[in-house]
Amino acid sequence: MLKISFAAPGLPKTGALVAGVLAKGVLTAAAAELDRTTDGALKRAIDASGGRFSGKKNQILEVLAPAGLPKQRVLLVGMGDAKELSSHDLEELGGTAAGHLTASGVTEAAVLLGGDSGLPGASERAARYALGALLRSYRFDKYKTTEAADKKPSLKKLSIHLKDAAAARRAWQPLEALAQGIFHTRDVVSEPANVIFPKSFAAEAQKLSQLGAKVTVLGVRDMQKLGMGALLGVGQGSAQESQLVVMEWQGTKPTKQGPLAICGKGVTFDTGGISIKPAANMEDMKWDMGGAGVVLGLLEALARRKAKVHVVGLCGLVENMPSATAQRPGDIVRSMSGQTVEVINTDAEGRLVLGDVLWYAQETYKPRLVVDLATLTGAIMIALGTFHAGLFSNDDTLSERLLAAGKATGEKLWRMPLGEDYDRIIDSDAADMKNVGNRYGGSITAAQFIQRFVKKGTPWAHLDIAGVTWADKAKPTVPKGATAFGLRLLEHMIAEHYER
Ligand code: BES
Ligand code: MN
Ligand code: ZN
Repeated sequence: MLKISFAAPGLPKTGALVAGVLAKGVLTAAAAELDRTTDGALKRAIDASGGRFSGKKNQILEVLAPAGLPKQRVLLVGMGDAKELSSHDLEELGGTAAGHLTASGVTEAAVLLGGDSGLPGASERAARYALGALLRSYRFDKYKTTEAADKKPSLKKLSIHLKDAAAARRAWQPLEALAQGIFHTRDVVSEPANVIFPKSFAAEAQKLSQLGAKVTVLGVRDMQKLGMGALLGVGQGSAQESQLVVMEWQGTKPTKQGPLAICGKGVTFDTGGISIKPAANMEDMKWDMGGAGVVLGLLEALARRKAKVHVVGLCGLVENMPSATAQRPGDIVRSMSGQTVEVINTDAEGRLVLGDVLWYAQETYKPRLVVDLATLTGAIMIALGTFHAGLFSNDDTLSERLLAAGKATGEKLWRMPLGEDYDRIIDSDAADMKNVGNRYGGSITAAQFIQRFVKKGTPWAHLDIAGVTWADKAKPTVPKGATAFGLRLLEHMIAEHYER
């Protein structure tokens, strides 16, 4: 893991030196100082870039071994208009720099914030920059045993130099907690299904008790007693026992309003069951527990930074397999709510799991709101692609807060409709409802199904994260692979609106 530190202004004698350039190629104070040290090499390099490096946000220009410095390199990072930089923009700058340096051959880098670091908010900005760099440096490579040394990440240490390093260290603490939560999420989501299955996921969750969270695990017997026939039906074809994991972080005394309940779909592998999926890309279904992974990491981040809030995280963990004991299309199951479901398609399993998890959450904790995260439908990827997650909600205030948190953290949401007309599509001739609709609006009928397990008066939001849980291409603060999408936005929303 990249080691982050904060230090006083100064010019380290080894490694890469990173400095910012503003729009139209205007050097920041730190870059100007470096330009003087190198006898104008940086300005010359900018001139020699043929206009391709102009200081636009997230542009990069690397100057190797300029005279005036001992065998070092300078990385210029475009910042655009410094006045318009949000916290997330700063994270992206850090991530862009780290993304470039990770496999560059340098083992250490120093970010020079120099003269600008005396400005108000500079320590918070430095911490944001560090967060972006750390998040980008994540790599899941524990199973690579033969990788050539020159393909491995070289960057080990990043120091950020600014006037008030102590203040930056203080601002860094909660952000480091956040990063640790995100890394734990990315780890469990990246693990294959022979390593992460319901019981091993539960064991990961148990680790949160060391941080002061209360972790409870329900097994099949417990869930049978509760009448969770919908969740249990999904797991009944698997040799792995289904689990319901509850993680409670009580950073405040219990309030009359009740805790926030965050529920995650944790299908540790989704073959589709008897309605089996085609072989192509089926391996992707190891990350069908992305929602549960986010709930785990979110609770970890909140516990690590001792957030002043009461949150309950619930993960419904099952493996959806075809076997002699698997449920069949046409089976009718009775959920904990008492409502019956005709299982038309065993591959529409996430909603069956969440129906029971949401009901249990409301019955047990009387929460002030419920948010669920689920890699629920391929249809949401058809509708929104991979740049927004779908937001479905019965509450405008909660929706606004989620949408705003998404914008602030770069985890963007797009609100989708709900309504009677869609709901009628999942009425069943044989039971109270069926688990699939028709060809159209598949992510909406899935959300309608979940809403049938939301009690009247409970504000609820469902995030369909099927398109955003895994990335094929790196973004400034998110490397390829498991993204932990949803964790940052929920953490941000909680900090903004629910912490005291
Ligand atoms: N886990 C899948 C959804 C999914 C698909 C997530 C692709 C990520 C990438 C879910 O359980 C599923 O299979 N949904 C079906 C529903 C259908 C049977 C109504 C789908 O989307 O095809
Ligand atoms: Mn499925
Ligand atoms: Zn699934």
